[in-house]
Amino acid sequence: MSVWASAEFDDHEQVCFFTDRATGLRCIVAIHSTALGPAVGGTRFKAYPDGQGALDDALRLSRAMSYKTALAGLPVGGGKAVIIADPAQGKSREVLHAYGRFVDRIGQTFATGEDVGMSVADIETVAEVTPFVGGTSEGAGDPSVHTAVGMLHGLHAVAEARFGRADLAGLRVAIQGLGAVGWGVAKRLHAAGALLTVADIRPEPVERAVALFGAEVMAPEEVHKARADIFAPCALGGGLNGRTVGEIRAAAVAGAANNQLADPSAGLELAGRGILFAPDYVINAGGVISGMEATTRMPHRAHIEFPPLEDSLTAIRGRLLSIFERAAREGRTPEATAEKMARAIIGR
Ligand code: NAI
Repeated sequence: MSVWASAEFDDHEQVCFFTDRATGLRCIVAIHSTALGPAVGGTRFKAYPDGQGALDDALRLSRAMSYKTALAGLPVGGGKAVIIADPAQGKSREVLHAYGRFVDRIGQTFATGEDVGMSVADIETVAEVTPFVGGTSEGAGDPSVHTAVGMLHGLHAVAEARFGRADLAGLRVAIQGLGAVGWGVAKRLHAAGALLTVADIRPEPVERAVALFGAEVMAPEEVHKARADIFAPCALGGGLNGRTVGEIRAAAVAGAANNQLADPSAGLELAGRGILFAPDYVINAGGVISGMEATTRMPHRAHIEFPPLEDSLTAIRGRLLSIFERAAREGRTPEATAEKMARAIIGR
């Protein structure tokens, strides 16, 4: 396994490998940039097939966090942690405490919260041994709620830029993944008068969406082909690739999943097909924005100042519109434009 040779390395400031012999815990914490302040980034609990895959994921997600915090105007940097184990079997109080002790060692430059495979309860267990944790039920509470609210602001920007519409009524949105964020987005879209097509590998939320929202249902591996106005990937990243992009019928893709584009060519192909793509780290920034208040309560961070939560969530709409406008003006994809803007902010 090589850090320096990883295609995702991008001059990460710090990469930590932790091993706890007593519990078998293995984890990686990647800190991409602290140019704007101490790094923040969620903890992903996942059974990676090998160490290189886990490292690449940590590096990729960490860089995206740098872009996310920079574009959201937050005075913090970007990092990410991955715990390499099956969340269904490898998670215990002892493992989460061992992880928390590692986070505590690097707390001056890194603080964390939940991500895929970690619940609010899990992150509260980590918080029993370190103060460098946000997204507990204290403060702003479950970040997924704020991610969903921010997503709705972003979807309004997409509706305006792609369909010339000020509202979402009557637009059909195909949601892949009805988890914490996807469900929150579905509920709010229904309230805004949008029509829903949904897919999840778990039947329970799908059945609930049919009963409560009159949603149409598609198979998880087919939903990207839905006849919809907007396709919203809200499950795992990497779903937009050479095969799936050519099958998308929606006129826009805007979802919460991190790192949706398998590679930059998927973004170019989307643009080539006239499909508007909302960069994921811009539209899904609500969770990290909501963690700012908790951040200022951590050691070494009392001086950090940040705008009111609602203002930052609302600003997602204007930020996306400015990215779409600049992308069109400069003949770039929205994600290349967002990346350029973010890198300028963090001095890369
Ligand atoms: P979650 O774990 O609560 O929900 C994911 C959902 O996707 C689950 O219902 C799962 O059954 C479903 N799913 C998994 N594989 C699927 C597939 N192949 N097809 C359809 N459905 C599938 O996760 P959460 O918190 O809702 O996050 C969703 C995505 O948004 C993740 O990529 C996460 O990294 C990203 N994100 C989440 C934030 C948050 O505040 N929770 C913040 C920013 C990004």
